[in-house]
Amino acid sequence: MKILAIETSCDDTGIAILKIQGSKTESLSNIVSSQVKLHKKYGGVYPSLAKREHQKNLPQVLKAAMNQAKNPKVDFLAVTVGPGLEPCLWTGINFAIALAKEMNLPLVPVNHVEAHILANFINNNPKSFPAVCLVVSGGHTQLILMKGLGKYKILGETRDDAAGECFDKTARVLGLDYPGGPEIAKEAAKYDRQNKEYHIELPRPMIYQKNYDFSFSGLKTAVLYDFKSRGAKTRKSKEYIREMCFKIQQAAIDVLIRKTMKAAKDFKAKTIILGGGVAANKELRKQMKEKIEIEIPHTIYYMPDQKYCTDNGLMTAITAHYHRKEKTKNWKKIRANANLKIGGYL
Ligand code: KG4
Ligand code: ZN
Repeated sequence: MKILAIETSCDDTGIAILKIQGSKTESLSNIVSSQVKLHKKYGGVYPSLAKREHQKNLPQVLKAAMNQAKNPKVDFLAVTVGPGLEPCLWTGINFAIALAKEMNLPLVPVNHVEAHILANFINNNPKSFPAVCLVVSGGHTQLILMKGLGKYKILGETRDDAAGECFDKTARVLGLDYPGGPEIAKEAAKYDRQNKEYHIELPRPMIYQKNYDFSFSGLKTAVLYDFKSRGAKTRKSKEYIREMCFKIQQAAIDVLIRKTMKAAKDFKAKTIILGGGVAANKELRKQMKEKIEIEIPHTIYYMPDQKYCTDNGLMTAITAHYHRKEKTKNWKKIRANANLKIGGYL
């Protein structure tokens, strides 16, 4: 069985073809056309511009994905329907419906947050439940209880900015490129305590609260205030930027790990699953692993391959595989929902 999946929820145009044979999966192609260069000058994603780029990119990305997979006979299609930027979602959906009609194939609607979770299961099957999933990206920061495939409950989420959004915005303050997450990680890795210290102290919002919610806008504001309080020379100094990046990254990681561990213990999770663009962060991956090994060593820990953390069509395809029973040719059912909750379309 072969699935062709389309992902356009934000600023990446992704199309993948996934082959499934029994319990074996094989990625025949996974093409992602990034719009990073275009959005760099705005320091964030501009939805109307992103939509236009998706429209332009989709036919080319489809051609590249089909070529790389050697023009296979596809069995059904899949498309991300939400959550995400509405104009971007509709572009992918309209393209997918047109293609489905042309190929006379059914389509599976896919939830993007679930796809970030199931990006862990492109090459293996999820087993031990309940699982606690931490989905951290540019658009989402959620802790989700997963009782099984397709069975989700949101335990908590950010009340303001997503963690990735906080990285992107603070990077902009510091004069770093977009997307900010990888830039902050790069600078943080160069931080050396032996060098001049600026004694930057940042808050860890909501870390000790008993709920599973997050808040990152206070962290962003603290970075802005510290930056504004410094003289022009310090603001441009490499050491200051490196220390600041290290501390931004660590503040976010501390909150993410503490809340995840609390949820895992409270719900007696057998598995912890990481997902989303921020899951590509090496320190988060490493520190979460260390914390689990110390505090709840029998818990299984999944993190996606780094290449599958940020948006791509393959995670959409694997999610469609697990939801294959929902194939439809009733095109009215395939609608964009910018605020779609996980499990919401089931
Ligand atoms: O999942 P994704 O591609 O798009 C959304 O669904 O939002 O996530 C993009 C986000 C951006 O905010 C980006 O800064 C962040 O993921 N990101 C990272 C890293 N790579 C991407 N954040 C921290 N460390 C990274 N290595
Ligand atoms: Zn995403």
